Parts: sequence; structure tokens; C-alpha cells
Amino acid sequence: MPKNNTTQALHAQYVMPSYAPGLELVRGRGAYVWDADGRKYLDFLSGIAVTNLGHAHPRLVRAIRQQAGRLMHVSNLFYNEWQPRLAEALVQRSLAGGKCFFCNSGAEANEALIKLARLWGAKQGRHEVITFHQSFHGRTLATLTATGQDKVKQGFAPLPAGFVHATFNDLESVRAVLTDQTAAVLVEPVQGEGGVRPARTDFMRGLARLCREKGVLLFCDEVQCGMGRTGQWFGYQRYDIEPDAIALAKGLGGGFPIGAIVAGPRVADTFTVGTHATTFGGTPLACAAAWTLIETITDDDLCANAVRMGELFMDKLKQAAAKYGFIREVRGAGLMLGLVLNQPAKPLETRLRELGLIALATAETVIRFLPPLNVTATEIRKAARIVDKACAEWQATCDAPGPDDESARFKHLKLNRT
Ligand SMILES: Cc1ncc(COP(=O)(O)O)c(C=O)c1O
Repeated sequence: MPKNNTTQALHAQYVMPSYAPGLELVRGRGAYVWDADGRKYLDFLSGIAVTNLGHAHPRLVRAIRQQAGRLMHVSNLFYNEWQPRLAEALVQRSLAGGKCFFCNSGAEANEALIKLARLWGAKQGRHEVITFHQSFHGRTLATLTATGQDKVKQGFAPLPAGFVHATFNDLESVRAVLTDQTAAVLVEPVQGEGGVRPARTDFMRGLARLCREKGVLLFCDEVQCGMGRTGQWFGYQRYDIEPDAIALAKGLGGGFPIGAIVAGPRVADTFTVGTHATTFGGTPLACAAAWTLIETITDDDLCANAVRMGELFMDKLKQAAAKYGFIREVRGAGLMLGLVLNQPAKPLETRLRELGLIALATAETVIRFLPPLNVTATEIRKAARIVDKACAEWQATCDAPGPDDESARFKHLKLNRT
């Protein structure tokens, strides 16, 4: 045994330093989590849009326990009762006449979309995929190449060929790069990692029209904004368009790892036996969890709750924006909201955490909020009070002459919770 066996010491010694974890969280219930010192936090990050039913939801826990004790994994060499049930539940809520392929993560789901585009396009001599600047699609070689952010690509050359980037919310920029080599366009209806940027309606509708005219596939990356997050089952449904396929993961299992693509009738049968596969894709356990999550969102009307609670939170954040000059904008959809600052957001993220609210700084200047879909008005109001307190403190330090270094901003403040 190492001399120092605290979690942090063990982590430093044995886990590759590709993450920089902060708190050690040991327990969760609903919208709350507790750290190893017993401190309680309102979790408005949900494991980055994953625990959409909150933590330890009794129905999800029961389903996972029951299925784990019955049959966890058999491989796709055999039917399992949950995989087609889950596929049916997804298709019924998205692309009529479609079919699913199951995998384990968002990157894998997008990788499947890219392979689908290649296989479908090969027959017509098309292979390129257009994606957007500031997008995020994953960390495999193909999906990091698809991602429209240079920082994830550095050091990984040579990158796979066949990706071009256009400007989000700018249809002309898509027209400029769309050629007879283009097989598909892949777009996030709300860019998450890129700073909680919703696509404009005219852009999404124009994109759908352009893809149809040019015979190009339209794919939506719903990994972060899908599964009820924006108040619709899927983000694209806010635009009244029908993509050819969508990628899902994160919230699909409510915390149990699972990814999927749903492909509409045009490409539903593109993958044939042997063209794509993964050992863990669609296990009975993962599919039972995801199916239960979908049933719970449906039974408890959580898309509607996401709309209502999203409006309440948006309202509260806009009140803060009206009070504090360093808040540039509040944007998002449903329960995917961003507070856009005119300066780096990390110190505010840290202060919110000290005050008992977990949110995430993203795209340098944005605080991203992703509360569970069953969040209550009381929890929203509590989070808003914490945001207001942290912002008031920050405004005071902005007004006062003092260190220019943002990270020094909150240093003098004592931990003081609302
Ligand atoms: C829109 C989007 N696509 C894909 C991914 C990658 O998902 P994963 O981390 O499960 O591979 C993410 C992760 O943040 C995402 O936000």
C-alpha cells in the first residue's frame, strides 16, 4: 500500500494526469451531492448533462439493481429483451421509421455517424463531413478532428482527412464549403462546450433545406442537448426540422454509460452485418437503465418541467445580468443555460462552488448550468440566490481598486454559505 492512501494521493500516483479533479464527491440524492468532508452542494452540472433524473433516483436505481441481478451482458451475438425496447422508445420520440445502433459514449455515437456518412456517401463518391467552429464532438481521432476547436487537436497530428468547418449560425459559410464531396453536415442544435450557443431557427431550417437540395445528410449531435435537456426530447425538435440521424449519450442512461445513434429511414439500413460493432453496445443492463429513464421522463412530464424551470432560472439569471455589469448575456434553452461574462469565468465557478453551487466554466467566459430535469422551483431559487451573492461579491471587487488578476478576486472572502 502507498504510504498516503487518501483519494487525492492515490489519484496522483496511479491515474494519468489528463483531468484536474476538484472536490471528492461521495454521495448524491436528487439535485444534491455531498463531498468527503460532508459538505452539501446543489449540483447544477449533473455530471455534465448526464444525471438528468438527479442522483440516486429510486426508479432508476431499482431498474439497474434488478437487471444487474438478472443479466448484465451477453454480447450482440444474442438478442436481449431490452435493446429493441429501448430502440422503439427512442424512435417513437424522434425519427419515425428509424433504427438505432448502440454504443457507450458520445464520441462513439458521433464516430458511428461519421462512419455512416462514409458508408452511405461512398456509393456516390462523397466522403466529407462539414462541422462547425466551436463545436465539440468527442476525443477519438475522428471526432476531435470533427470538433471545431484547435485546443483538442494539438499534438495529435496527423489527423484523419475528410472534415471541413463552417461558421455556426451562418448558412452562407456552409454553402461556401459544401461540394460534391460532401456526405453530411453534423451540427449541435445547442453548442454546449462551445459556450451554450443555441442555433438560430432560420439557420437550422435553412441548413435542413440546403442539405435536402444538395442531397447531403443532416446529422444532429444531441449528446449534450438531447434527452429532454432543452425542454423537447431532442434539441432539433425546437426547429421543426427532421435530420437524417442523431447522436445520443450523456443523459441517455441518467448516469449509466450508454450511447446511441438513431437514423431515419433514409440511412437506417446503411450499416449491415459486420460493418460496425462494439462489444458493450446495448447491453441488457445499459438498455434497461436508459429505457427506465425514458419512461420516467415521460411519466413525470419532465420535458415540461425543463421548460418551466428553465424559464424561471433564465428569469433569475437575467435579473442578475441587469444588476451586474460584468454579465454580458444569458442564453440557452430549457435547462441548458449559460451566463456569459465579459471576463474569464473560472473564478466565479470556484466561488459558486465555495458557496455550495456546482456549475461549470466553459469557453473561457461562460458559466454553464445543467441542473437535473426534475429540479424544483425551490432549488432554482436557492441556486439563483447563490449566483446573486457570488456576483455581488465579484462586482464589489470589480469596483474596488485591487489586483487585476481574476484568480485573486475572491481570495479575501471567507467561505460563507447562503
Ligand atoms: C455535443 C457533444 N458531443 C459529443 C461529446 C463527447 O461525449 P463523450 O464524452 O461521452 O465521448 C460531448 C461531450 O461533452 C458533447 O458535449
